[in-house]
Amino acid sequence: MNNPYLPLPMKLVKNFTETEDKLIHTFTLEFQSEEDEKSFAYTPGQFAELCVFGKGEAPFGIASSPTEKGQLKFSVAKVGVVSTALHLIEEGATVGVRGPLGNSFPMEDLKGKNLVVIGGGFAFTTLRALSTYILHPDNRADFGDLTVIYGARNPGLLLYKEELAEWESRSDINLVQTIDRPADGWDGRVGFIPAVVEEVAPSAENTVAIICGPPVMIKFTMPVLEKLGFKPEQTIMSLENRMKCGIGMCGRCNVGSQYVCKDGPVFTRAQLLELPNEY
Ligand SMILES: Cc1cc2nc3c(=O)[nH]c(=O)nc-3n(C[C@H](O)[C@H](O)[C@H](O)COP(=O)(O)OP(=O)(O)OC[C@H]3O[C@@H](n4cnc5c(N)ncnc54)[C@H](O)[C@@H]3O)c2cc1C
Ligand code: FES
Repeated sequence: MNNPYLPLPMKLVKNFTETEDKLIHTFTLEFQSEEDEKSFAYTPGQFAELCVFGKGEAPFGIASSPTEKGQLKFSVAKVGVVSTALHLIEEGATVGVRGPLGNSFPMEDLKGKNLVVIGGGFAFTTLRALSTYILHPDNRADFGDLTVIYGARNPGLLLYKEELAEWESRSDINLVQTIDRPADGWDGRVGFIPAVVEEVAPSAENTVAIICGPPVMIKFTMPVLEKLGFKPEQTIMSLENRMKCGIGMCGRCNVGSQYVCKDGPVFTRAQLLELPNEY
């Protein structure tokens, strides 16, 4: 039986400074063999523990889509011990990856539905995975309309700028980008995400909203979605509780009876309303 605590060694092939403030880097890691890639079969929404040998490990959402063969991507904010060590790793070095962990966005249930993907700040990582998966030619016909509403404080803090530019030019995705305040060189939309969601006013009919972002953004977007007719079971969120083992063994991450690492991190709002009032 495989040891669930044993990380897979992966080669760091790209350490890319994603944001102007340099606090977020995107890491591209390469599988060492087809067997390793097979053992890491994952679905958008899952996360992994990234291990920096000698420093420790921390959980990060998988930002790549399973359709991007041979590699994994993670976008990591520099906040503490492991993330700072990761930012300093040079291309070519080995990083440990433990996973895939947690549940995922319910891709089978989402088939045939319109999707409204709402992301704020750097929590856009697994939403990138989701959108990239849906936009793949093998999968696009399985889903209805795709609207992505993505906001950051300023243009320099938007992740994945090249991909956003490519999505802008496509007809099979409605991408709405916004920043909090006017900025030099930005002629796009300005406004906080809840107000933009209200303005875009996606129909709730046969639609699921998937939302990841800072708690304050989620708090103010929820009433807007409710006003638009989205029921708790039509709204999906991903939680970022403090974790340790990532596999339901240490009891570090639970909310009521649910382990966020194992039963989540993806929950419907209906499921969260059943749990103690922490969210
Ligand atoms: C499912 C999941 C997905 C995630 N995805 C991402 C992602 O894609 N990108 C990303 O950047 N982050 C992500 N995170 C968050 C990330 O795991 C944390 O920020 C993690 O703490 C970073 O590890 P670190 O060792 O660098 O930071 P730490 O050294 O753990 O410090 C992180 C911050 O928390 C504070 N802190 C440390 N210990 C405690 C404590 N005991 N109590 C209170 N505060 C404390 C520190 O002062 C610091 O500000 C995710 C978390 C989860 C659970
Ligand atoms: S992180 Fe150990 S039980 Fe969830």
